[in-house]
Amino acid sequence: MPGIVLIGAQWGDEGKGKATDLIGSHVDYVARFNGGNNAGHTVVVGDEAYALHLLPSGIISPHVVPVIGNGVVVDPEVLFQEIDGLQSRGVDCSRLLVSEEAHVIASYHRVIDKVTERFLGKHRIGTTGRGIGPAYADKVNRVGIRVHDLFNERHLHDKVEASLHQKNQMLVKLYNRRPIDVDATTDELLRLGVRLKPYVANTSLALNRALDEGRSVLFEGGQATMLDVDHGTYPFVTSSNPTAGGACTGTGVGPTRITRVIGVAKAYVTRVGEGPFPTELHDEQGEWLRRQGHEFGVTTGRPRRCGWFDAVVTRYAVQVNGLTDIALTKLDVLTGLKEIPICVAYDVELEDGTRERCEDMPVDQSRFAAAKPVYETMPGWSEDISQARSFEELPATCQAYVKRLEELSRCRISLIGTGPQRDHVIQLRSLVD
Ligand code: GDP
Ligand code: IMO
Ligand code: MG
Repeated sequence: MPGIVLIGAQWGDEGKGKATDLIGSHVDYVARFNGGNNAGHTVVVGDEAYALHLLPSGIISPHVVPVIGNGVVVDPEVLFQEIDGLQSRGVDCSRLLVSEEAHVIASYHRVIDKVTERFLGKHRIGTTGRGIGPAYADKVNRVGIRVHDLFNERHLHDKVEASLHQKNQMLVKLYNRRPIDVDATTDELLRLGVRLKPYVANTSLALNRALDEGRSVLFEGGQATMLDVDHGTYPFVTSSNPTAGGACTGTGVGPTRITRVIGVAKAYVTRVGEGPFPTELHDEQGEWLRRQGHEFGVTTGRPRRCGWFDAVVTRYAVQVNGLTDIALTKLDVLTGLKEIPICVAYDVELEDGTRERCEDMPVDQSRFAAAKPVYETMPGWSEDISQARSFEELPATCQAYVKRLEELSRCRISLIGTGPQRDHVIQLRSLVD
């Protein structure tokens, strides 16, 4: 039965929320597998816009079982705020399942995220400040707190003590801050555990059973390929694996059960936070894209950096995720441009000072940071495309732009976004079988 992975193919904010919501209405389960409330996914249904951070975007579909997998870092306070916000708007969240193995973001992770960024100064990552990196660091460092730890007071106290021991030394001696109290932190986490308990489950078992019974599961990634801690623009990345492999480790479902991998890519590119971005536009053109595309962060409100479509990045996303399909979003934003540049390759400098055209992603980050985009230019279109429901209804130059992106990406484009609404979409083939 279908096990569909949906991931971001660029630097995030590609429109994964909308794509998940669309596909989610045809599946039984939607499981988040990485990241936490650093994500900001927007789903627009009629006049209602939902900004989701931690909850899977499938929560909006009443028949879907939303799952927070073990690979997610859960800030319980944020989770409850989000649940309360949705319930007050009539969205039922009672079906939610939260993995007992997921790691918890505690208040001290948020504190450490902020002081570390300040301390890094010009070397900062530009994180969302939600405690994501410190929570994952604790997980790998084996001093993390997991969801099931919240239900045993003595055990939890021990774990919090172990986790805060080194952190308090660091906070006091290095950052000149007050130490964090073990007892108060334990009490706060116990209190949060009481409310969390009804949602907690063995989600790996639940998802595997669902697949055994012939149900379909959509695995929804937060962040994106270029923010992956292994495959992204390290160190300017998030601290998890948003690439397709993360769907397996982040939910406890094996790779043989994945039948489809969909990469969501914008018809141009945006990035939030620091780090290299070859096609970034620092001029009026970039401002224009930001305005047209309303490119401001859902989580932090920061203006997103904007640039032209980068086929090197997309080919790389096809490679590291094994994409079967691309969902191309926000094509409508480009309406009105006379010409549209597409980055087809990079011009990179070699050790001996000579330059070379490079079609593949340079692994060396300093080479990537200095890569100059090689552009090819396509004619634009001026017609409103938001009402188009078939490929043939798109203007000829718009069709040619999409075809060229498909050719350069070396992966079929199966869905085209023509506006923020659920029905602003051209579906070229089914994504759920
Ligand atoms: P995510 O983090 O990948 O889920 O993406 P975000 O929600 O952060 O940002 C994508 C934004 O684009 C949201 O405001 C969506 O409502 C909007 N959006 C998604 N698809 C389209 C599209 O095809 N056209 C337009 N104009 N907006 C879209
Ligand atoms: P969605 O799911 C865009 C970026 C941050 C920062 C870096 C590390 O909405 O696409 P973190 O707080 O994760 O330690 O920050 O990653 N970042 C995102 N950028 N979209 C996101 O999520 C992001 N989540 C994290 O801006 O550069
Ligand atoms: Mg987002």
